[in-house]
Amino acid sequence: MVEKRSWAEPWKIKMVEPIKMTSREERERAIREAGYNTFLLQSEDVYIDLLTDSGTSAMSENQWAGLMYGDEAYAGSRSFKNLVSAVHDVYGYEELIPTHQGRGAEHILSQILISPGDYVPGNMYFTTTRYHQEFAGGTFVDVIVDEAHRPDSIEPFKGNIDLDKLAAVVDTHGADKVPYVSFETNVNMAGGQPVSMANLREVYEYCSARGILVMLDATRALENAYFIQQREGGYLDKSIAEILREITSYSDGATVSSKKDNLVNIGGFLAVRDPEIARKARAMLVVFEGLHTYGGMSGRDMEALARGIREMVASDDHVRARVGQVEYLGNALIKAGVPIVKPVGGHGIFLDAASILPHIPMEHFPAQSLAAALYVDSGVRAMERGIVSAGRDPETGEHRVPKLELVRLTIPRRVYTQAHMDVTAESVMSLCERPEQVGGLRFTYEPEVLRFFQATFEPIV
Ligand code: F0G
Repeated sequence: MVEKRSWAEPWKIKMVEPIKMTSREERERAIREAGYNTFLLQSEDVYIDLLTDSGTSAMSENQWAGLMYGDEAYAGSRSFKNLVSAVHDVYGYEELIPTHQGRGAEHILSQILISPGDYVPGNMYFTTTRYHQEFAGGTFVDVIVDEAHRPDSIEPFKGNIDLDKLAAVVDTHGADKVPYVSFETNVNMAGGQPVSMANLREVYEYCSARGILVMLDATRALENAYFIQQREGGYLDKSIAEILREITSYSDGATVSSKKDNLVNIGGFLAVRDPEIARKARAMLVVFEGLHTYGGMSGRDMEALARGIREMVASDDHVRARVGQVEYLGNALIKAGVPIVKPVGGHGIFLDAASILPHIPMEHFPAQSLAAALYVDSGVRAMERGIVSAGRDPETGEHRVPKLELVRLTIPRRVYTQAHMDVTAESVMSLCERPEQVGGLRFTYEPEVLRFFQATFEPIV
């Protein structure tokens, strides 16, 4: 019997953007000039760009049309009103603070809620989120379940918070030193791993009883909703829109980088329920971003965003195809025996660089080295998510050595085809066949803050 394909993209392509095919010699020169840091490559020199799924989505015809309708009024823009109502309808929050992107919202939230000496528990760190929490004087404490640190564990909800770890933080420091729990949906650094609805509910009940707020990083909550639908009992008959609303119901607010789920190239927001927190946030917004009816976005950005937010939940077919494409690439690699973080996550494939390159010690940056080698092999641009991203401990000055040393192949939404995924899989597989040809790296420049963005390296020979 013919097995029917379970999904295909619910769109067709109307416009194409040519990409350059380069020679190996050209790529060797380009990566050398970029200091072996894929963030420093010129996009023109990249064939398939899997650096990030952030701001790299293709907008729909409806979103492009929305750009023309953008109301650029300094105050009281119609596009702001449309955005407020989209966020309210889809995420369920009443108060909206528009920012230029996710980290703008994280900055404002951290400054308002965190006092020096506070502790902020969260389910694995995200680079900018933790930075803003520390910048406000807080200490981030990782309370994610242990399975999140095991690339091979096939637990369905590896993003969950471990309630015992959370309780230990609260018991040790007191609830008054814990302003909020920073709860990320579909945890990026864990490999795009979801949290379960049961865990969201439990954490919210625990926190509410103690006067601790729950602030979601809902950047990839849509993809999380899809995994809940597929994996958690009782959700198969619910729509993605319904599940997303239930996720946010177990929170007091959220920061969102709209450059992901929301299908736009720039934008973000902080959304809360409490008008008092919103009032404080707006006071900061006018200092750091812009007036409260545009924050960090133009009117046309807000219009495209409002439409993207509605579009992402209009039909479950969108997220099924989005995650389906990621799973397609992941399954090809699993079949070939490539060690990746399992189960396959929502926004990308995370190669276990420590296992692929066991001959490179951590201080010679296996994941950074693998990302550079992948680019040279095929022009595919990936990103290090390991010791370089983790940075140094502000107290001791030592490298923070994360348990996961990964290379992330992040899939933009609605941009690449299945053939691009095949080329990518073949390149990774061929590197895995001859790992000894990949050598380690050392710093030639190490920035103090968020070093992975701008650091440069040289090969150790
Ligand atoms: N939270 C999460 C979970 C993110 O993945 C990001 C960005 C942010 C917050 C910050 O948002 O970039 O709009 O300021 N992640 C990008 C990435 C950079 O490639 O994973 P931003």
